[in-house]
Amino acid sequence: MDIFADTADIEEIKKLNDLGIIDGVTTNPTLIAKSGRDLREVLGEICDVVRGPVSGETVSTDAEGMIREGRWLREIDDTYMVVKVPLTAEGIKACYQLSQEGHPVNVTLCFSANQALLAAKAGATFISPFVGRLDDLSLEGMQLIEDIRIIYENYEFDTRILTASARGPKHILDAAKIGSDVVTAPPKAIWQMLQHPLTDKGLKAFLDDWEKTGQTLGQVG
Ligand code: E4P
Repeated sequence: MDIFADTADIEEIKKLNDLGIIDGVTTNPTLIAKSGRDLREVLGEICDVVRGPVSGETVSTDAEGMIREGRWLREIDDTYMVVKVPLTAEGIKACYQLSQEGHPVNVTLCFSANQALLAAKAGATFISPFVGRLDDLSLEGMQLIEDIRIIYENYEFDTRILTASARGPKHILDAAKIGSDVVTAPPKAIWQMLQHPLTDKGLKAFLDDWEKTGQTLGQVG
């Protein structure tokens, strides 16, 4: 499963990228606003660092505007930029047109399996079902991922399931168990995947015992 960082914070992205554990990045207008950066500049930098799919979101509400903005976003980096459009009728229309032109499209704000089915029919590269926001309403976000997985496999759609609005390591684990193609999560949740108290405790014991031997390791001569 690919892991995307859900952030426009370039420093956070660089730290994760240095570990070799992220495959791409997703942004949205809220995350760009939070970064305080110029959209074009920050997306370009992210593409240079990650060298994987980087989603940038359109802000028009009509298909024509989304298509224009999508083409503009792709000019930032025609290899890595992915055009993100909302799951509205206009967004689906824009997805169809942009996909026909060969642009990768991420259809966002998906909250039902029927919406995901339509996005796949319109040629979406990624579908982004928002699990955390469904959980916020006491609904089962992960059930949506399971349903979409079944539908896409039934009809062999190429659209990749990008589990979005993942809020912590449990969402990431559940998405992986279901067979989501990608999960996007805030950096904090990705760092939490690494942590285990028994790893810390075990390492401390090993280092304490090693010190008792009085030996050195890795020094030449
Ligand atoms: C996905 O691409 C979105 O940017 C994101 O996952 C939304 O997450 P949130 O519901 O925590 O805002």
